[in-house]
Amino acid sequence: MNRAGTVVVLAAGQGTRMKSAKPKVLHEICGRAMLGWVLDQAFTLEPQRVLLVVGHGADQIHAFLEAEGLKDKVTCVVQEPQNGTGHALQVCLPEFGEDPGRVVVLYGDMPALRSESLFALCDAADDAGADGAAILTCVMDEPRGFGRIVRSDGGIGALEAIVEEKDCSEEQRAIAECNLGVYAFPGPALLAELPKLSNDNAQGEYYLTDVVGAITSKNPGSVHAVPIEDAEEALGVNTLAHLAEARWAIQVRLLEEHLANGVQIEDPGSTYIDWGVEIGTGTRVLPCTVIRRGVTVGENCEVGPFTHLRVGTVLKDGAEVGNFTECKKSTVGARSKAKHLSYLGDVTIGERTNIGAGTIFANYDGTHKHKSVVGDNAFVGSGTIVVAPNEIGDGATTGAGAVVTKNVPGGRTVLGVPAKPHDRSPAK
Ligand code: UD1
Ligand code: CA
Repeated sequence: MNRAGTVVVLAAGQGTRMKSAKPKVLHEICGRAMLGWVLDQAFTLEPQRVLLVVGHGADQIHAFLEAEGLKDKVTCVVQEPQNGTGHALQVCLPEFGEDPGRVVVLYGDMPALRSESLFALCDAADDAGADGAAILTCVMDEPRGFGRIVRSDGGIGALEAIVEEKDCSEEQRAIAECNLGVYAFPGPALLAELPKLSNDNAQGEYYLTDVVGAITSKNPGSVHAVPIEDAEEALGVNTLAHLAEARWAIQVRLLEEHLANGVQIEDPGSTYIDWGVEIGTGTRVLPCTVIRRGVTVGENCEVGPFTHLRVGTVLKDGAEVGNFTECKKSTVGARSKAKHLSYLGDVTIGERTNIGAGTIFANYDGTHKHKSVVGDNAFVGSGTIVVAPNEIGDGATTGAGAVVTKNVPGGRTVLGVPAKPHDRSPAK
């Protein structure tokens, strides 16, 4: 359903409070840039257009859009210099044209909003009509520097203004209802007020919040403030500590989805599963496990405890990987096991193969990464080092401690190191 004509995502700010050279909106949450989460929110409204206001770190943001295949889905508008959230919308005026339809504005640093809240915002904008607008608010124990919602009738009536914390009187600062920075404006009302903004405030910036104030002072009661219940959605990210909070909120949601799909996660508190991970039903994920974006785990597998599955890992049905094992760009075949202290790097392992404790696939020669293949029903002895590139055939065996520098044909055994028996005669 088409809930907005235009969604504008503001992402031009520097994010000084993050103390990082990286643009704020590119900091990752569960394997995905914060901006990716916010653009998802934009797309759920099925607008005709999404405008993305960029400025600080624009090149990196372009590279992100390209890498995520989002380049054709958003139109970037450059804001230079960055003179505030109202100014960020002003630079979109040429793109708006005569009728942008309903304009929903999202800030790029609010990654935890749920689409249900945005739908409620759009319903409220329907009620507010052509001369009004709608915004999301939240009553917060800790206002995190958010703008305060000033209401009439001693705080219980209609919205009158949004006052930035830095511009608040003592009394206003005590208000617990905060502005989330999520707005729905009818196009004409926005176009009428945007050019009139002034920067006469504590930060010398053009505030988008003043558009809300202008609409409501023209038509008192015309801006509908929709309070959201769950303060977790309101986790605006201004600092690295906020980023960690938002990461946890989103992590919990991802874990809940996997649990609902029949993935048995023994200790959600110590389990890290990125966005974009597929896990089959009946799989057990044991504590202290990290599963990165793009990993695929089949049904009835066992992962963990203390396991790191990195990019490009595929575990086929019934595979088991655990106890201080790391996998990268590797496939572990059905019912194969690598259960103790191993590094599986750039290796494809067949079915029902056992990778003994402490096996290392030495994939890096200092310059290049090389691949290895292990067949079905193979037995790789404890402490084997497989020097890649290498192939260990179906049913082949390596002895404990073997350093395998040549291919091992199917069914053959290579001895471990030392490759000759110990001299057991007493020392002379
Ligand atoms: C803003 C709101 C505040 C609200 C809070 C909620 C204003 C004036 N204040 O404050 O009422 O409670 O968000 O999160 O709107 N940006 C630009 N160009 C600019 C400035 C900012 O694109 O010139 C972008 C930033 O990249 C960021 C977003 O707008 O994604 C919000 O900017 P930020 O500086 O974080 O605003 P807050 O101080 O948090
Ligand atoms: Ca902010």
